[in-house]
Amino acid sequence: MSQKGSCTTSCASKWALYAAILAVLYGIGSYLQSINSSFYRMDPAGLNDVFQATLATARAAGQDQNATFLVETVIGGIEKQYPAVRFRNDFTDKSQWMFNNAGGAMGSMFIIHASITEYLIIFGTATGTEGHTGVHTADDYFHILKGQQLAYSPGALVAEEYNQGDVHWLPRGEVQQYSMPRESWALEYAQGWIPLMLPFGFADGILSTLDVWTLYKTAVITGRHMIGNLLAGKI
Ligand SMILES: *[C@@H]1O[C@H](CO)[C@@H](O)[C@H](O)[C@H]1NC(C)=O
Repeated sequence: MSQKGSCTTSCASKWALYAAILAVLYGIGSYLQSINSSFYRMDPAGLNDVFQATLATARAAGQDQNATFLVETVIGGIEKQYPAVRFRNDFTDKSQWMFNNAGGAMGSMFIIHASITEYLIIFGTATGTEGHTGVHTADDYFHILKGQQLAYSPGALVAEEYNQGDVHWLPRGEVQQYSMPRESWALEYAQGWIPLMLPFGFADGILSTLDVWTLYKTAVITGRHMIGNLLAGKI
């Protein structure tokens, strides 16, 4: 009887402690979520302006199927739009490109900007790919520069279709299956807690491709962007 009584007391205090820890973690999580947006230096509307202007310029020049022209023009526009943000624009340097295997899909990317709360990349594939978007703690804006992306959520029996000039917004926490046909390239902007997205970006490399050189290169280049930005005061 007395033993049972003492367990009731100690168990109750244990549960109270767990509840208190959970409440504190929840509090920290909500706080981090609430301050996240104060670190953003880019915005979906501004990027969309640059994106649409890029396509208008490309169409006027008869270059709207020239991926090099599109990437060059969109990065130039971004540098003008956000003069205070640090960007890389040397996308013709192949050493700055890397493969990305994640969620069963494979593509390649060039990092224009990566910090703790934002990243901006050129992502796409020359051959085509298909896979899982990943579960992310960031909002993702996928601007189709060239080609197409198809996507759907479970329960949908028809695909959402995103073509040149369209932006596919994937809110944080939502997941989809997606595919991109050959020579599809996008300007991808994510805002949220970016380091929490990295395990997904590395998972297929660690568990499937074992392409350690790509993993190393991705870690070094991403780290260089993030640390460089932190030193410049951009979280
Ligand atoms: C595509 O655009 C690049 C960059 O502006 C340019 O150097 C190249 O000549 C263009 N290609 C064609 C086929 O027009």
